[in-house]
Amino acid sequence: MTSTKTTGRAARHEARLLWAANPGLFALLEAARHTGPITRVPRLGWVVTDPVLARHVLNDHAAFGMNGEGGVGHLWTQLFGDEMAQFFGGARHAEIRTRARDLFTEDAAQALVKRSQGPSHAVLAGRLAAGETVDVADAARVLAGRMVADLLGLAADRRDDAYRELFGAGERLARLAMGTTASTDLDSGVVARARSIVDEITAGVAHAYRTAGPHTLLGRCRDMDLGLPLARGLATLLVIAGTETGVSGTVRTVALLHDTGRQRALLDDPSLMDNAVREGLRVATPAPVIGRHVNRDASVGGRRLRAGERVLLLTYRATNGAGPFDPHREYVPETRQLWFGGGRHLCLGAAVARTQVARMLATLLSGGRPYRIVSRRAARGVLVPAYAELSVRRG
Ligand code: HEM
Repeated sequence: MTSTKTTGRAARHEARLLWAANPGLFALLEAARHTGPITRVPRLGWVVTDPVLARHVLNDHAAFGMNGEGGVGHLWTQLFGDEMAQFFGGARHAEIRTRARDLFTEDAAQALVKRSQGPSHAVLAGRLAAGETVDVADAARVLAGRMVADLLGLAADRRDDAYRELFGAGERLARLAMGTTASTDLDSGVVARARSIVDEITAGVAHAYRTAGPHTLLGRCRDMDLGLPLARGLATLLVIAGTETGVSGTVRTVALLHDTGRQRALLDDPSLMDNAVREGLRVATPAPVIGRHVNRDASVGGRRLRAGERVLLLTYRATNGAGPFDPHREYVPETRQLWFGGGRHLCLGAAVARTQVARMLATLLSGGRPYRIVSRRAARGVLVPAYAELSVRRG
């Protein structure tokens, strides 16, 4: 069993990450330990901490939407225009997801991660075997950039620094959304700054939209005749959705496995890998809050929500109620995979995310011996809580 001492240590490191990322969010998550399953908070709106109620909101697409004050679609539409709103609701959204589905299956995810990250994993394993110290956070940022470039159909053969820059630009763009917990209305200065970061992120998109193969996301956008502006919006969404959360989930799972003293369990029984990945993502819940706009009056957990209000689903609280990281924990039915959201907008990249975490753990444990964390640093002032640095060495 996991000892109280090790779970306490893991929890302290996690708490420090959340606080460094955003002290306001940390305070909200702490306060929410003591609120009921759904409660109304002045200036913020409705706050939900119960996993079943959170899924209820995510599944009720008529009452709760992504567009409009409180939903993430509202932010994207201010950057990319009304057409982008179509991606976040309605028939266009369903069509795009259907046409892209085969790029995100378990098999496609395995192939994508192997193709885009395999050579880097081999280098990483070699460095660890040679006794070197490796910064897993830096490695994961480069790997995520490589994966997303490959998936989109952008140039995938660049130097590591190009992917560090791509990740950094995504992080800066996501940071602009940090002031939006109370309102998703962006002022014109923020929109201008965001657009200039988007220009950086999408520098290669016009070329890829014309030339990328049919098995890439931008090639699919062209086949669907989405037009360049919407393709740019979707490419930016993929860079944000596919890198920040993926890196956070990967690196925090590496830390949780270490801090809870569970590496030996995984080395002795590799069939626990899927559980370890699921537990890492559950406990880390890299997207700790999901927002929705109330489209029409609705009842949730016995409370009456009115059209025009907003709801914050504190997924981090909802998933962590099941207890600390434990690779022997069975699947938790109430929680399901709430860290990937739910309903129509359930994370499209879930299989990619899981595969990336599993590949990283397998690489770190490839010598048959546990790794040791030699130093770590939390990222400050970021939307997605993450390690800026997590240096490990073998044995
Ligand atoms: C551990 C890593 C990840 C986590 C925790 C995560 C979490 C989420 C969550 C919670 C949502 C739903 C947001 C909402 O309903 O408002 C979402 C949506 C999405 N995610 Fe992920 N994600 C991860 C990795 C990825 C990766 C690697 C990709 C791409 C390769 C990706 C692509 C997407 C896309 C495209 C959407 C929008 C889906 C839609 O609106 O239909 N995600 N993700």
